[in-house]
Amino acid sequence: MLSNTIIALSLLPVSLAHFTLDWPKSRGASETTAENFPCGGYNDVGQRTDFPLSGGPLQLKMGHDQTNVAVYLAVGSNPGSSFNTVVRQQFVVTGLGDFCIGQTNMPGNLSDGTQATIQVVSNAHGGGGLYQCTDVTLRSGPIIDKSNHCINNTNIAISQENLSGNPNGTSSGTSPSGSGTAAAPSSKPGAAAHVKVASWALGLVGIVGFAVL
Ligand SMILES: *[C@@H]1O[C@H](CO)[C@@H](O)[C@H](O)[C@H]1NC(C)=O
Ligand SMILES: *[C@@H]1O[C@H](CO)[C@@H](O)[C@H](O)[C@H]1NC(C)=O
Ligand SMILES: *[C@@H]1O[C@H](CO)[C@@H](O)[C@H](O)[C@H]1NC(C)=O
Ligand SMILES: *[C@@H]1O[C@H](CO)[C@@H](O)[C@H](O)[C@H]1NC(C)=O
Repeated sequence: MLSNTIIALSLLPVSLAHFTLDWPKSRGASETTAENFPCGGYNDVGQRTDFPLSGGPLQLKMGHDQTNVAVYLAVGSNPGSSFNTVVRQQFVVTGLGDFCIGQTNMPGNLSDGTQATIQVVSNAHGGGGLYQCTDVTLRSGPIIDKSNHCINNTNIAISQENLSGNPNGTSSGTSPSGSGTAAAPSSKPGAAAHVKVASWALGLVGIVGFAVL
């Protein structure tokens, strides 16, 4: 029974624990290196996706029930870790599953055909962050079918936005913002999410275990 439990837990999808960047296709997502800056340990440029020069949607899947997120841009064909431009200021998303960042605010001085890398950063459980990157070619003109690449699960929404700072600095004790609307994000909701996920998983294991017996 214990080994059944361990097997079932090991089969749980990665997305339950962290977030994934699903469109544009990320360089990759690894549970074990997701906390490595930059790009969650994926240092090599991957498949390039055409992305609007004027900004576009990013499709994520959220695995914590509250997450601080920000989006950065590095310009160049292989820009390393130079994610110097904030294209989406830090916000808090509440809810699990499919989540679309509706728009990124690209710099106005780039041109059609510019190669760049977009990095999505979230907070992690303790301190530090989680990182996912996608390689893009910026294109003028409408190239996005939002109905395919911008989906929100029910009950998922942005609860705070335009916070100062980076999500990888938002573990407990960090003051988030000068704006009066922002309540302090803390690592506690993440911990609560884990308890919830864990008990859900154990429930599933119970059912699976029962079926096996
Ligand atoms: C946190 O994120 C910022 C912005 O992407 C980055 O410059 C910084 O190196 C990151 N810090 C760590 C410890 O990864
Ligand atoms: C999904 O939610 C984001 C953030 O609230 C919003 O910008 C976007 O337009 C939504 N997408 C759809 C298809 O409703
Ligand atoms: C574009 O503008 C940003 C500031 O918004 C600047 O850092 C960057 O060097 C500029 N890039 C080019 C290619 O001029
Ligand atoms: C956050 O900033 C964006 C871009 O400047 C702006 O469109 C939006 O209204 C701001 N949201 C809030 C709640 O101030």
